[in-house]
Amino acid sequence: MIQGHGGNKQHLADRMGCRLEDIIDMSSNLNPLGPPERIHTFIRENIHLIHALPEPDAAGMSRGFAAYHGIDSGCVIAGNGTTFFIYSLPLALGAKKALILGPAYADYEDACATHHVKTCHCLTLAENNFVPDLDQLSAGAGQADLVFICNPNNPTGALIAKQDLETLIRRHTDTCFVVDESYLPFVPDAEGFSLVTQTHLPNLVVLSSMSKIFRIPGLRTGFLSGAKALIQKVMAHYQPWSVNALAQAVIKDIYNHPEDILPFYRQTREFIVKARRTFVHALAETDGILLFDTPVCFVLARLDWIPAPQLCRRVGDDRFLIRDCSNFKGLSRRFVRFSLKTNEINLALAQSIKTALALAREQG
Ligand SMILES: Cc1ncc(COP(=O)(O)O)c(C=O)c1O
Repeated sequence: MIQGHGGNKQHLADRMGCRLEDIIDMSSNLNPLGPPERIHTFIRENIHLIHALPEPDAAGMSRGFAAYHGIDSGCVIAGNGTTFFIYSLPLALGAKKALILGPAYADYEDACATHHVKTCHCLTLAENNFVPDLDQLSAGAGQADLVFICNPNNPTGALIAKQDLETLIRRHTDTCFVVDESYLPFVPDAEGFSLVTQTHLPNLVVLSSMSKIFRIPGLRTGFLSGAKALIQKVMAHYQPWSVNALAQAVIKDIYNHPEDILPFYRQTREFIVKARRTFVHALAETDGILLFDTPVCFVLARLDWIPAPQLCRRVGDDRFLIRDCSNFKGLSRRFVRFSLKTNEINLALAQSIKTALALAREQG
């Protein structure tokens, strides 16, 4: 489904009468340090790859991911972004009723709707800092045959410990769990939270997006990993050449140089920790806005007296595009999300928000 997504850059550029590149897009959660330079160089030097068909099942790309994580390549499928899997899983797994740990990325629900799979939500609450109630989640999982968990969560940033997830997954063997780790590489000690290596769990699949951490959403690349029996079910719905030749080659090149990956992750994580601290500090004493703590590259905020669409419009006048979270189930017109960029930009946004809040208060 096309509607459930974030801010429309073109729309703001049209309203402001400016060029698309003059809009500061803080609505999409992408690595401010990405993409690594080698991706640009690689694409420039390998453009001829589009002259031939790539591997129909992108097996080489899957092998790169599998080798990096030390898992069997038969437990991995490479796709045209994780979106490709989100939309095929409800059908491939023959789901009847799905549970979504929310508020969450809207595509889980949209994908289920596409395949006429019923959905219900286990919603986390602002007053609990969006920390999931694991007992409630477990009770809901017992009633569903498919469960979507985004870890860390988009848009709240809430992160569930590996042990807690494993306990939940082992408790409900008749339920298939989809754990979306698309934002996990941003988290310090991400490796201690990841379920990618748990391919022995027969009712788990993990989604790993390349779009966010490497800042290549336009290339459309991601992975699904999990138990072989589930992989076979998903493969039964796989379309040949879903991942284009350049995309396959770029990802293979990344995994051919594993020595560069962890340093890039580390650099990103250190940058994000500092950037978030500076941004949160800049708004800490500001009346009318409450920021929720996250370990990722975006920050969710609750607004007291200015509705989200109004704040989006006001900061839009300064050419900042932020995410109005009104359309997330479990949130409301009181929530917005900011994706962090450089300190200079983040601080400029903080100033724009302060001005908008002060103005809104004055005007009652
Ligand atoms: C939580 C989450 N999962 C998956 C996706 C899809 O990303 P992609 O298809 O580029 O891998 C997004 C995109 O915003 C997301 O926020």
